[in-house]
Amino acid sequence: MSGKRPIYLLSRVDKPDSNKIETYLADGGYERARKVITSMEPAAVIEEVKASGLRGRGGAGFPTGLKWSFMPKEPAPGKPHFLAVNADESEPGTCKDRVLMERDPHLLLEGILISSFAIRASRAFIFIRGEYTFAARVLEEAIAEAEKKGFLGRKVFGTDYSLEVMVHRGAGAYICGEETGLMESLEGKRGHPRPKPPFPAGYGLWGYPTTVNNVETICNVPFIMEKGSDWFRSMGTEKSPGNVLFSVSGCVERPRVLERPLGTRVSELIEDCGGVWKGRKLKAFVPGGSSTGFLPAGMADLALDHDSVQKAGTMLGCGSLIVLDDHSSIVTAARILAEFYEDESCGQCSQCREGSGWVVKILRRIEEGRGRTGDLELLESLCEGAMGKTICPFPIAWGTPVLTALKNFRDEFEEAIRSGGAAAERETLEGAR
Ligand SMILES: Cc1cc2nc3c(=O)[nH]c(=O)nc-3n(C[C@H](O)[C@H](O)[C@H](O)COP(=O)(O)O)c2cc1C
Repeated sequence: MSGKRPIYLLSRVDKPDSNKIETYLADGGYERARKVITSMEPAAVIEEVKASGLRGRGGAGFPTGLKWSFMPKEPAPGKPHFLAVNADESEPGTCKDRVLMERDPHLLLEGILISSFAIRASRAFIFIRGEYTFAARVLEEAIAEAEKKGFLGRKVFGTDYSLEVMVHRGAGAYICGEETGLMESLEGKRGHPRPKPPFPAGYGLWGYPTTVNNVETICNVPFIMEKGSDWFRSMGTEKSPGNVLFSVSGCVERPRVLERPLGTRVSELIEDCGGVWKGRKLKAFVPGGSSTGFLPAGMADLALDHDSVQKAGTMLGCGSLIVLDDHSSIVTAARILAEFYEDESCGQCSQCREGSGWVVKILRRIEEGRGRTGDLELLESLCEGAMGKTICPFPIAWGTPVLTALKNFRDEFEEAIRSGGAAAERETLEGAR
């Protein structure tokens, strides 16, 4: 607990040996999973999570209990159910799942146990970002510890329920965080997203019913089962209950991961990170990870919950606040993000493959003082021509930063075209990269 702000997700991360099963057990660890698996029906677990109003922390904010209820009630003969834990965490500005995996891996495993039991999964795969070598090792050690105690593997807690958990390391492609790209990659193929429908609950990994959930989403589950849905709803807002991990980066004095209730204001998060760095002023911020776009300083009062951010014209995403000070160039910032997305387009859909490259070319020429009349309209038409028209939502990820930059900072682009380029400090977004 910290003052008036109850924290639970990060409550163990600063303890010595927080990754070890002994310390987890000393804190009452695995008792929630034991209680659920030895005394509850899976449907009752789903109902409790539904009642809590927990929404996915991976980006889309989809209600978790509702997603679980799409799985078949019982596995059909020869058709196992799977849980895929999304630990890809590749959105620029995002580093919160890493803290949970490195510092409290047994919390994630306990959450996986309860979640897998609820959807009748016999196997759970943790698909982890390739660069997270340390977190992968910590998780593997934690799985071995839990198996030794009989908490994972065959006949969990002496019941008829069995669950195998394995860690699968990605190969460094952002698109494998998209749930169907993730499943393709786990199956050993190129991470090319699949068209939806069919949705994973009907046709997932190797064609079997699968639920994909983010690491932080799953880490909320043991607390909901322990303290109940009313407790969970006592934090956050009515439609976005609970606490969330905000990764705060960019031009702040102390970039860090903070646990706060959903609905916390941007200005408050910046203040809790020591304010805008070097005594400078806030110019803009990205509310929820690089794909959620640039909002102006005048909106720093924005409450970070799903509905408020949607009303402001974008998405809460994965709660990654990127701060830009008044020395930053939005043209440069937009170009940096566009380069990332061009690099990461899987190339399957032409609008995305070609569009993301053209956006980079145009932003680069504006930045370098070679911008032309009509470039801003061209940028808009490239983004609008790709967003919502491809197999997966990737163009929304690269289109939103460009469109919001043009909407909220158009004069800066016009000035760069008129007067020979963007006056940029290269430190723009350095904290987020
Ligand atoms: C391009 C793209 C990248 C994504 N990357 C991630 C990621 O790294 N981690 C994550 O949990 N979800 C990511 N998502 C969202 C997943 O597709 C999916 O919605 C999420 O894992 C579902 O879990 P949740 O319901 O618990 O949020 C990404 C989506 C898109 C379109």
